[in-house]
Amino acid sequence: MFRVTRRYEFAASHRLHSAVLSEEENRRLYGKCNNPHGHGHNYVVEVSVRGPREGATGRAVDIAVLDELVQREVVRPFDHRNLNREVAVFASVVPTLVPTSENLGLEICRRLKRNWKQVFPGEWPKLEKIRIGETARNIFEVRADEIE
Ligand code: NI
Repeated sequence: MFRVTRRYEFAASHRLHSAVLSEEENRRLYGKCNNPHGHGHNYVVEVSVRGPREGATGRAVDIAVLDELVQREVVRPFDHRNLNREVAVFASVVPTLVPTSENLGLEICRRLKRNWKQVFPGEWPKLEKIRIGETARNIFEVRADEIE
């Protein structure tokens, strides 16, 4: 069994602000990330896939197929976007999901999981996990079998 990880990048802006907390609590909890005008990150997303080598190709995953899926579901919809305003799951009126990297990772993992069988109809490869790096020091991991 092999695990293959492919790295992608996109740039996006966000503001951490929870509608269920007061202005004061938001400022205290999120600090400068609560800046009303937002701020940006160069996000790094690592997608990890698990599978056996396919006999004919000697590969565990067709990277081109994976790229197409990740570009369509993640990079194109998120790149150079304001997550709070332009990505539906964070922009919906009520209840608003705060675009933390936990929630962003969850959304990315859900999107890939939801569309996985369409591009990889066989038993393998399976989506194992995604990791999202918001800064060089903050890495968030979401495992596909641990989410709905
Ligand atoms: Ni931020």
